[in-house]
Amino acid sequence: MDMKKSDNVAGDISGDLAVETFGVSKSYGPVRAVDEISVKVENGQYFVLLGPSGGGKTTLLRLIGGFDRPDAGRVLLHGQEVSSLPPNKRSTSMVFQSYALFPHMSVEKNVSYGLKLLKLPAPEIAEKVASILELVGLKGYNGRMPHELSGGQQQRVQLARSLVLESDILLLDEPLASLDANLRKDMCQELKRIQEQVGITFIHVTHNQEEALTIADRIAIIADGKMIEEGVPKEIYERPRKKFTADFIGQNNLIGGKVIETDGNHVIIDLGFATVAVPRSEQSPDKGAEVTVSVPAEMIEIAKEAPQDNDLWQFLQVVYEKETYVGFGSQHQIRLPDGNEFIALTNSSDERFRLAQGDIASIVWPTAVARLHTS
Ligand SMILES: Nc1ncnc2c1ncn2[C@@H]1O[C@H](COP(=O)(O)OP(=O)(O)OP(=O)(O)O)[C@@H](O)[C@H]1O
Ligand SMILES: [Mg+2]
Repeated sequence: MDMKKSDNVAGDISGDLAVETFGVSKSYGPVRAVDEISVKVENGQYFVLLGPSGGGKTTLLRLIGGFDRPDAGRVLLHGQEVSSLPPNKRSTSMVFQSYALFPHMSVEKNVSYGLKLLKLPAPEIAEKVASILELVGLKGYNGRMPHELSGGQQQRVQLARSLVLESDILLLDEPLASLDANLRKDMCQELKRIQEQVGITFIHVTHNQEEALTIADRIAIIADGKMIEEGVPKEIYERPRKKFTADFIGQNNLIGGKVIETDGNHVIIDLGFATVAVPRSEQSPDKGAEVTVSVPAEMIEIAKEAPQDNDLWQFLQVVYEKETYVGFGSQHQIRLPDGNEFIALTNSSDERFRLAQGDIASIVWPTAVARLHTS
């Protein structure tokens, strides 16, 4: 498909950035839905806005698409200020959150609707619709009505309806939310394939972390109207900088403590009942600072006895509570001496030993996997 830039786009494509916001804010009455968010999205990137419900993701997307005006800050598309332009004068196209198809129109009519509004000649419309339906895997479905399609197929029609407009930035608000887990996984791969094939910029909003990690080139964590942090999926998952991210992504155990000292590449933390070493990050906190340590549940091992003292491993003495079978493995609930709970995930049940509720055990993790968070 020829994804040429449509004529209604303001200005020329310049630079490598498709979207740039500078401190955009939007309030609804007393609610600060988006609070000074600055974000940069590169041309051709699959960018995901991830965060909890009510965090401001839809509002940010609407500001980029021009459906709302920011109270403060600026929105640039391809280096051009667009803050005062309406949606149809922007190089964006939006797939709305739970936006239904026209129920009384066939697949073909649904997809061609936007092109008809642009008054394109009928043969050109037919050609574009055919090529888009092929791209989304719905070749030959032209005459079907929405109620004759599965949820996933309806979602593809929605996608086709936006793609056919040939905008070079597609804004997708929870495009997979109504699908069951399996279909969502398939559609994730499909969306990624389509995005790579057409080579345009996608900004995809979701509150589902697995979806974000699978599909994104880059993820921005949005919560409480703010940009918490951004990075590539591996960074966000394995090395979250913020406590919020560590809590929201993956299954991390969080525990508060105070910095005793920085020793070479490690920061030594007093947990109140034990000390642990955590790898030093870019900014090491001062002595006495209150910090949070996060330890990924899947990196924790349970041992009957404390290991030899060794810089490569950290351990804590704990009380074992219970095991819950979770399909791919087991989840072990553990009580720390301060009463806090830790979770350890193991791949398969370890048959070498079984712990009973109330048993004293040790949990062990590689020093390198823990993270330090100051906020
Ligand atoms: N039109 C509106 N009028 C009043 N308040 C609004 C409006 N739209 C959004 N809000 C409020 O702004 C905040 C952010 O909403 P937004 O829809 O952007 O969140 P979201 O991250 O998309 O959430 P979800 O994942 O549930 O879709 C919420 O507190 C919401 O109640
Ligand atoms: Mg939303």
